[in-house]
Amino acid sequence: MKIAIIGPGAMGCLFSHYLSRAGHELMLLDYRPERARSIAEQGVRVEEAGELLTTRVPVTADPGAVGGAELCIVAVKAYATRDALLRSRPLIGPETLVLSLQNGLGNVEAIAGVVPGGQVLGGTTAQGANVVGPGQIRHAGTGETVIGELLGPGSRAAMLAALFQEAGLEARTTDDLTGLIWSKVIINIGINALTALTRLPNGKLLDYPGTRAVMAAAVKEAAAVAGALDIRLLYPNPAERVEAVARATAANVSSMLQDVRARRRTEVDQIQGAVVAAGREKGVPAPVNETLWRLVKTLEASYAEQLGS
Ligand code: PAF
Repeated sequence: MKIAIIGPGAMGCLFSHYLSRAGHELMLLDYRPERARSIAEQGVRVEEAGELLTTRVPVTADPGAVGGAELCIVAVKAYATRDALLRSRPLIGPETLVLSLQNGLGNVEAIAGVVPGGQVLGGTTAQGANVVGPGQIRHAGTGETVIGELLGPGSRAAMLAALFQEAGLEARTTDDLTGLIWSKVIINIGINALTALTRLPNGKLLDYPGTRAVMAAAVKEAAAVAGALDIRLLYPNPAERVEAVARATAANVSSMLQDVRARRRTEVDQIQGAVVAAGREKGVPAPVNETLWRLVKTLEASYAEQLGS
């Protein structure tokens, strides 16, 4: 299959590596031409089980150079989804499927603002990877990728799940994309902002009564917002589930902490911010999440003024 992956971050590199090695015709897109050139020269490098594997993948900053793709995987940060799609329009024809496996709320809706909804799929991935340098990642842990169609159940999600499985990536489908995405966002609500603010790896959040209490309160609020929206979560006890994920990914540096360490913008607007906004619309207050949101926004805004330790 001819596949374009938009965004050479941790997930973009990981999926490029696996899908290219499975024999698909891959193209990796980066909006920064110098970085695209450097990744094209050095290849996508994945540290896995003590080995450094290099996969040669064409990389370009010019979506017009690619020709049409059969599948586009959107792997940019959630705040960049719409702009990335607008830039990538030359790749997307009437038959192209566009798949988001990003963190946060609003991605599939942003894609459907540019591409007809029938072509849009979304999902979540429990793959863990950290960026080591441009085009180089460390594959920190495996987990399943779940895919659903924006307009409801259909055969394309199953086709893409099979494509992932054949490439050695555990995958399955869901008929309830909204429930799936909210279920993942609630995990991110409990872990990401707290790790970014404390600079702790995921598992350490459970070692301190303070972080544990804030985690429980933030998750309770977000679950109440989901409830007010009639969203069905995939697990009965959100607080327990978030703790279980923090334990299972104990050594992970969360994606938000990776952003803060690299002094980049985070996805907190699409995680805490989006849940607070949804709660406001439904009359469900979310003060703990609002506080976490404001603190992470302050961190982002003040990188240049922060004191070293
Ligand atoms: O964003 C992340 O880092 C991940 O989604 C998760 C589940 C919090 C694990 O690190």
